[in-house]
Amino acid sequence: MKKFLSLLIISVLLVSVVYAKDKGKKAKEEKSESTAAAQAPSAVSAAYGDVMAGEKRFRVDCFACHGINGTGDGYAASSFNPPPINFRDPKVMNMKENSHLFNVIKNGGTKVLSRETFMPSFGRGYNDLDIWDVIAYLRSLHIKIDNFFPNAAYFIAKDYRIAALGKERIEKVIKEKITEDEETVTVYTIFRSDKPHIGGAEYIPQDPNKMDVLKKPLKLGYLVFFNVKSLGNIQVGIAFDPSGKIIKILPSDISQAGATGKYLSPFSGQGKRGKYEIFKLKGVPDKILLELYKNYLIALEASFVYEKEEKDRTWMEEE
Ligand code: HEC
Repeated sequence: MKKFLSLLIISVLLVSVVYAKDKGKKAKEEKSESTAAAQAPSAVSAAYGDVMAGEKRFRVDCFACHGINGTGDGYAASSFNPPPINFRDPKVMNMKENSHLFNVIKNGGTKVLSRETFMPSFGRGYNDLDIWDVIAYLRSLHIKIDNFFPNAAYFIAKDYRIAALGKERIEKVIKEKITEDEETVTVYTIFRSDKPHIGGAEYIPQDPNKMDVLKKPLKLGYLVFFNVKSLGNIQVGIAFDPSGKIIKILPSDISQAGATGKYLSPFSGQGKRGKYEIFKLKGVPDKILLELYKNYLIALEASFVYEKEEKDRTWMEEE
């Protein structure tokens, strides 16, 4: 019964969302849905979207399914499979291209994600600028690569499973087993540009044609996100440079920065490749220290797997 009710709510929502806004907006409407992808929305368009206007739309048209906070737990969310993602999770959101978000919102989930979904298309009620406003709002919900690497121009992201040997190495230092879940992490690899770059750090999908801007000498470092149990299970991002030195550890939810700052900031400047010795930090409780040190080592090991792959790439020959 509950399921039926929520499905009913969804249907009503869908109908109202898709049709009610139509009136009087026809003039603004872009006609060809199928060319949306070809219109190549750029990173810059999202940067100029109006966050406040986007939030207003979100609170009317999206919250029921995506949650009032964008965390994917709206009252209708439990009836979806897969459920909507958490727009506040930087691990997931930083690797969603603006053009992808644009196309899903404009053309609907089923068309773009190639599966049956309840994600409606807003292309009839929203013009392109409206969509960029909403995307600007979604982007305001999560911490960005730029927060860790202010000079970042490009980045890539991929899941890597640490090598068996690396796993052993970590277990030996921390005297604790690494679980299977912990073995695989999403590694963000960040690059600066040797040319002027505007519009903030830009995601480069795993597309060989686009990867030539990702040259090894321009690499700024790596970023990996972890849920930290000893800090109340909040998510933190650990950023380190290619030598293994920690640049920054920040909570994904920046409102937590005050509460966690005194535990996280002592990590900056620590760490070095090839050195396996637990950090000596004043004022950081052992439990937190050990867990973050373990996460750092896992991140470091995962970056080695990335580097192995990097070596195999053709553009590496330019070195
Ligand atoms: C009727 C429920 C519903 C409404 C209303 C809705 N969404 Fe969704 N949305 C979903 C579901 C369910 C998914 C997950 C689809 C999937 O992954 O198969 C989704 C996925 C998305 C995605 C794709 C994320 C990804 O995983 O790539 C974006 C972006 C999005 N929604 C934005 C919005 C915005 C912006 C609004 C309001 C303007 C909105 N949605 C309104 C249900 C909804």
